[in-house]
Amino acid sequence: MSFSDKVSSLLEQGVLVSPDLLDENLSKEKVEDIKKESSVVLDKRKSKEEILDDLPRVKVLYSYDKKSKKRSFDDFVKFFNFRFKALERLIRQRPEMQGLISISKVGIKEEKEQVSIIGMIKKKSITKNNNVLLILEDLSGQISVLIHKNNKEVHEIAKDLVLDEVVGVVGVLGRNIVFSNNVIFPDISLNKELKKGPTEAYAVFISDFHFGSKFFLRKEFEKFIDWINGKTGSEEQKRIAKKTKYVFLCGDLVEGVGVYPGQEEDLEIPDIKDQYRELARYLSKINHNKKLIICPGNHDAGRIAEPQPPLYNDFAEDLWKLPNAIIVSNPALVNIDSTEDFSGLDILLYHGFSLIYYANNVESIRNAGGQKRVDLIMKFLLQRRHLAPTHESNMYIPDSEEDPLVIDKVPDIFVTGHIHRATVSQYRNVTLLNTSCWGEITEDQEKRGLEPQPGRAFMLNIQTRKVKVINFLGQ
Ligand SMILES: [Fe+2]
Ligand SMILES: [Fe+2]
Repeated sequence: MSFSDKVSSLLEQGVLVSPDLLDENLSKEKVEDIKKESSVVLDKRKSKEEILDDLPRVKVLYSYDKKSKKRSFDDFVKFFNFRFKALERLIRQRPEMQGLISISKVGIKEEKEQVSIIGMIKKKSITKNNNVLLILEDLSGQISVLIHKNNKEVHEIAKDLVLDEVVGVVGVLGRNIVFSNNVIFPDISLNKELKKGPTEAYAVFISDFHFGSKFFLRKEFEKFIDWINGKTGSEEQKRIAKKTKYVFLCGDLVEGVGVYPGQEEDLEIPDIKDQYRELARYLSKINHNKKLIICPGNHDAGRIAEPQPPLYNDFAEDLWKLPNAIIVSNPALVNIDSTEDFSGLDILLYHGFSLIYYANNVESIRNAGGQKRVDLIMKFLLQRRHLAPTHESNMYIPDSEEDPLVIDKVPDIFVTGHIHRATVSQYRNVTLLNTSCWGEITEDQEKRGLEPQPGRAFMLNIQTRKVKVINFLGQ
């Protein structure tokens, strides 16, 4: 029987098979076995279009998978130059930047003339008069920029500026200094469209299971698995589970080993391979008609420096074997649910190692609650169009050809984990999600001042862009 005959014959029996199964010699018994798995049996009352609508559609737009190699000082220079140019390109399009000149050309202007420059913040200090003083650097040179405290609105913005971010400055020229009256971020457009899909379908977002930890909330996670398979929950929740086509898992899948001193005391499963095996055993229970999109976090096996490549096969072999798993890097950009008439939603996944730095170092965020205001941190990063603008906010690989942490394409959904909070918010039509966790509070977290909100799963309705949450804790 030819390949297409085989597919047609099976479709007539209401069975849709994955290509790997087609390689097998499908006996009658095997087909009956497949039919018992509701995930691959089609409802014959549906039209072909409806059946196709039900199938998940995932395109990985960006996943970093370059081989590790020794990096030199030259790589750092090229990396920062690349980042500068990428962000400069975004800022120079802004109308406020008319008359833009490079920093080395400022010297040929007269004092009191208006200037516009773009630079990376090399130094930031507060003068004894409480003004903000910056040293801004571009590829041609550097210059001091002062933001006076009486310029209240800009001064408030300037207090939040962080080292190494790229900004535009508009101001008046003094002697070897620019007195700034406006600071421009690469930011995202005010006109970003709120894209909505043509049919009702859901994407679920979870992260930070820390499988293998003594503190893993096993009972709650089992409730999640039961819900997503349509076995528990209210009628509405069951309906959503059935219509869920995508499950995003945003890092810290396992607890890992040797992540912090004395961690072995907190481990239930001491071997990292066994931790992934146990996770895969749970995930294999999820109907295979739902795609699992998986990125690593800082507790996972492999390189911690960002971008983190997709999980290594030799540690997480059992995850790679799941037929519905799509394993991507951290960060990654993934498009879901596109059709001929709908371009789909772009999901930016970033586990979020850098978030804590900005919770602690950005004055307005720190004063508003620090890590409890992940929404503000995510907005801050979108405005900077970078997932970790400051050198010391994360560990990173200085790739000489690109900076994968630049937010080049503005996503529809921006997802992070790491902080173990459950928040949903929106900035300029981008949905911001921080995706809870599945562990009890540990001493280590208490020491770090974390206040987790565990056991939650977010459900995004692709058609309405509304987000709902189910709290599995204490149910
Ligand atoms: Fe975590
Ligand atoms: Fe983490």
